[in-house]
Amino acid sequence: MTTPDKTLFEKALAAFKRSYSPYSQFPVGCALKTTSGNYYTGCNIENASYSLTLCAEATAISQMVNEGLQKIDEIFVIGQGDALCTPCGACRQRIREFATEDTLIHIGDTHGLRATFTLGDLLPHSFGPHNLEHSA
Ligand code: THU
Repeated sequence: MTTPDKTLFEKALAAFKRSYSPYSQFPVGCALKTTSGNYYTGCNIENASYSLTLCAEATAISQMVNEGLQKIDEIFVIGQGDALCTPCGACRQRIREFATEDTLIHIGDTHGLRATFTLGDLLPHSFGPHNLEHSA
């Protein structure tokens, strides 16, 4: 099933509203569900020293890992504007660390879902943990 549950959208929207983005004025919210059914959320957190900005996806993933979970089942990202707010390249790689190529990435705005991709769609032929699995 590719349709995200309503809870995932609502949690992403709540995170979107908590965004700290005074410099870009571009709030982003993210909610992820783990394979065990737990939810974690994140928003973008900007900084006067611009390059220190944290993306919403990075914030959500850090919440998840800090709570001891490491497997993303699906993820919902909310942004604004005409263009789909797909995860930036760095965040695709961050998601890759804790997901599979079939993991669903839902993209929406404050009104709801706009598109769904798999991680494999957004980051094909990825470098990941499997690259570092080698026998001594
Ligand atoms: N941003 C995210 O939070 N996630 C992304 O994947 C793309 C960009 C944020 C970072 C910055 O605060 C704002 O969007 C504009 O780049």
